[in-house]
Amino acid sequence: MKKISLFLFAALFTTISVTAQSESSYSLIPKPTSLEKLDGHFNIGTHIKINAPEDFRKEADLFKKKFLFGAEDESENSSGSVHFIIDHQKEQTLGAEGYHLKVTPQNIKIVAAHKEGAIHGMFSLIQLQQIQKNQSFIPAVNIIDTPRFSYRGMHLDVSRHFFPVSFLKKYIDMLALYKFNTFHWHLTDAQGWRLEIKKYPKLTQIAAWRSNGHKLNWHLGEEQFLHEGDPNAYGGYYTQKEAREVVAYAAKRGITVIPEIEFPAHSEEVLDVYPELGCSGERDGTSEFCVCKDATYTFMKNVLKEVMDIFPSRYIHIGGDEAPMDSWKDCKDCQALMKRKGFTKVEQLQSYAIKRLNKFLVSHERKLIGWDEILKGGLPKGATVMSWRGVSGGIAAAEQGHDAIMTPGGYCYFDHYQSDPNTQPKAIGGYIPLWKVYSYNPVPESLNKSQAKHILGVQANLWTEYIPTTDHVEYMVFPRMLALAEVGWTAQNERKFKDFHRRLQSQYLLLQRHHINYYRPSYRLHVKAVPDYKNKRFKISFRSEQYNPTIYYTLDGTTPDTSDYKYSNPFYTEGQTTIKAAIFKDGERKKVATYNADYHKAIGKKVRYLNGGWSSSYPAQKAKTLTNGITGSLTYQDKQWQGFLHDMDVVIDMGAETTLHQLSMRFMQLIGPGVYIPDAVSVYLSKDGENYHQFKKIQNDVSPQDDRLLFKNFKFNLNGERARYIRVKVKKQNGFMFSDEIKVN
Ligand code: ACM
Ligand code: ZN
Repeated sequence: MKKISLFLFAALFTTISVTAQSESSYSLIPKPTSLEKLDGHFNIGTHIKINAPEDFRKEADLFKKKFLFGAEDESENSSGSVHFIIDHQKEQTLGAEGYHLKVTPQNIKIVAAHKEGAIHGMFSLIQLQQIQKNQSFIPAVNIIDTPRFSYRGMHLDVSRHFFPVSFLKKYIDMLALYKFNTFHWHLTDAQGWRLEIKKYPKLTQIAAWRSNGHKLNWHLGEEQFLHEGDPNAYGGYYTQKEAREVVAYAAKRGITVIPEIEFPAHSEEVLDVYPELGCSGERDGTSEFCVCKDATYTFMKNVLKEVMDIFPSRYIHIGGDEAPMDSWKDCKDCQALMKRKGFTKVEQLQSYAIKRLNKFLVSHERKLIGWDEILKGGLPKGATVMSWRGVSGGIAAAEQGHDAIMTPGGYCYFDHYQSDPNTQPKAIGGYIPLWKVYSYNPVPESLNKSQAKHILGVQANLWTEYIPTTDHVEYMVFPRMLALAEVGWTAQNERKFKDFHRRLQSQYLLLQRHHINYYRPSYRLHVKAVPDYKNKRFKISFRSEQYNPTIYYTLDGTTPDTSDYKYSNPFYTEGQTTIKAAIFKDGERKKVATYNADYHKAIGKKVRYLNGGWSSSYPAQKAKTLTNGITGSLTYQDKQWQGFLHDMDVVIDMGAETTLHQLSMRFMQLIGPGVYIPDAVSVYLSKDGENYHQFKKIQNDVSPQDDRLLFKNFKFNLNGERARYIRVKVKKQNGFMFSDEIKVN
C-alpha cells in the first residue's frame, strides 16, 4: 500500500511542478507590492510545524485550521515548518500592516512589524493555497507587501434585511482573505433596529420586527412594527453577546468592526417605539429626532455607552445622512433653539446635534464618523467624513484638514447594477460594473499632497433594500469586492485592469470553494465606438466581462461565424456600418451584439440651446454632448447622457445647406430615479435660421409605468430636404429626461 501511494505522490508532484509555475499560480488579489517567483513548492501536510510568538497563538491556531483544511497529503515529505515572526524593528520597512512572506520548499516564513501585518501575510498564504488546483502545494515565492491606504472597508446594511451571525462570519472571512481591515456594520435604520440595547428594550422587542419580510412590500403596506414572536413578524436583532462574538471573530482576522447608529434621521423605527423623542411627540412616521430636546441626547448617549462597551473600535459612525429637517422647521422648540443660538439656517441645527454627540464620543476617547452631510452647517472638531454623494464631501473635508473615507456613489455602491439591468435581479439603479469599481482612484486630483494625506482610504457600501437574502448579498458583492480590495491596497501606478482581470480568473476557484454565490461574467459583448474626428471615422473595440474571449465579427449585417473576421485589435469604420459580433466558446456562438456605427453628418456641428439648456446636475459634455458621436451607455451617470428638467429646444447648425435624409434622437427611461421618455419630439427645418417650418412631430408610445430600463429612438424621415438649421423641440413628461445624441444623415 505504502509503495503505491508514494508512487502516486511522486507522479502528482511531477505534474504539479510543471503547471504550478504558470502565472496563474501566483494570481493574488490584491496585487502585492513585490512578488518574486522562486523554484519549487512547499508541500503541505498534516506533519507541518507552526511556530508563532505567544501573542500570535490564537491567530496561528486559526491559520493551522484553515491551512491544513485543503491539504490531504500525509506522506513524510510534508514535514516543513511555518514561522510567524513579529519584529517591531521592521516598522521602518513594513509599516503597520505590511509583511514579508517567503515560501521555499523547506519552510515558510512570515515576518511583520505588527500582528496586523502578520495576519495579512497569513491570508496571502491561505489565498495562495486556495487558488491552487491542488491545495497541498504552495508555489515557492518571495513577497514583500504593504498597503496604499490604512482604511479598507466593506459596509453591510442589516436593517433593510436581516442577516444572521453565521453569514456575517462568512462575510468577514472573505474580507480577511482580500485584506480589508474594516467592517462597517449599518445596524439601525427605518426598517429595523438590530442591536440589543438593554436600557431600551422596545428597540428589539418591537422596532426590530416589521410586518412584511421584503422591505419593498413593507413600504407598500402600513409600515407596522409587530412584537417579537408575532406569527407575521419579520426581522431580528443581534444580542450584545452575539455582537461581541462578531467583534472578536473579526479582530482575530485583522478586522475592526465599526458600528453605525443612525442619527439624527433614518430613525423612523426608534420614533415608532419612543415617539416622545420626535418633534411632535406622536407616532407620525417622521424620520428625525427632535434635536432640541435633552431627552434625545440622553437616549443617544445611553445607546452609545452600550455600543462603546461592545465595540472597541476607535471610530463610531453616527450616520448623519439625508435628514429632511422638515420637522425641525415646524417645531416650536427647535425654532426657539435656533433663535437662542442665533442660527439662520435649519442646517445649523443638524450641525449642532452632531457636535453634541461628537463631544460625547471625544470625552470617551472615540472618534466620530458621519456621512458627508455632517459637513452641513460646519464639521465638529476631529470628525471623519464618509464621502458618498460623489467625491466633493471628501474633498471639502480634506481641504478643511479633516480625514475622509471615500465611498462615492458612482464607484462604491454595490447595490447598483453590475451588468445590463435588463438581465439582472431588480436593483436600486445605477450601473457599476467590475471595471468601473477598479477604475476608481480614491485620491481626488484636486488635492495637494498634504490634503491628500487626509484620504484615509476607501469603502464599498451594500444597502439592502432590494437584497433580501444572503445569496443575493454575495451576488452583489462578488467579484466587485475583489476590485475594491486592489483599489484600497495596491499602489495606483501598479494597477492595470487587464492584469487584475487575468488574476481574477484564478480567484473563481477560491470563490467556488467558499460556496460564494458570485455574479458570473456574462458572454454579452459591448461594442465601443470612439470617434476619430480628424479622419471622420470610428475606432471600434469590444469589451466583455470574459477574459480574453475569442470574438468573430462581420461588417455586412450577417451573423458572425468562425470563418468571419477574428478580432484581435481595434479597427476603423466609416459612414454607416452595421457591426455584428459574438464570443465563441468551444466553437459555440454566444449572444450576437449588433451595433450601428454611424459617422453621421451632425458630428462636430454646433448646437444652440434655446430654452435654458441642460440641468446643472447632468451636463454630460455640455454643448458638445448631442453631436459628439458618442452614444451613452446603460447609465445616465456616464457623462454622455445629458439631463433636462424642462422642455428642450435646440438648434443644430449644419454649417451649410445640406441634403437631409434622416434624423434620430434617443432617450432613456428608468422610472425608479424619475427618468422618463419625453411626451413628444418635433423637428423643424430652416435654410436661414429665421424661418422654420415644422417637419414632423412624433408622440411617445412607451408607457410611463414600465419600470424597466428602456431606450426609445425617435426617428424622422427627412425626405432629402435641403436645410442648414435643424431645430428639435422636445416636450418633457415627468421628472428628468436624458438624451445622448442627435444623429443626422
Ligand atoms: C447613504 O447612502 N444614504 C449614505
Ligand atoms: Zn423639535
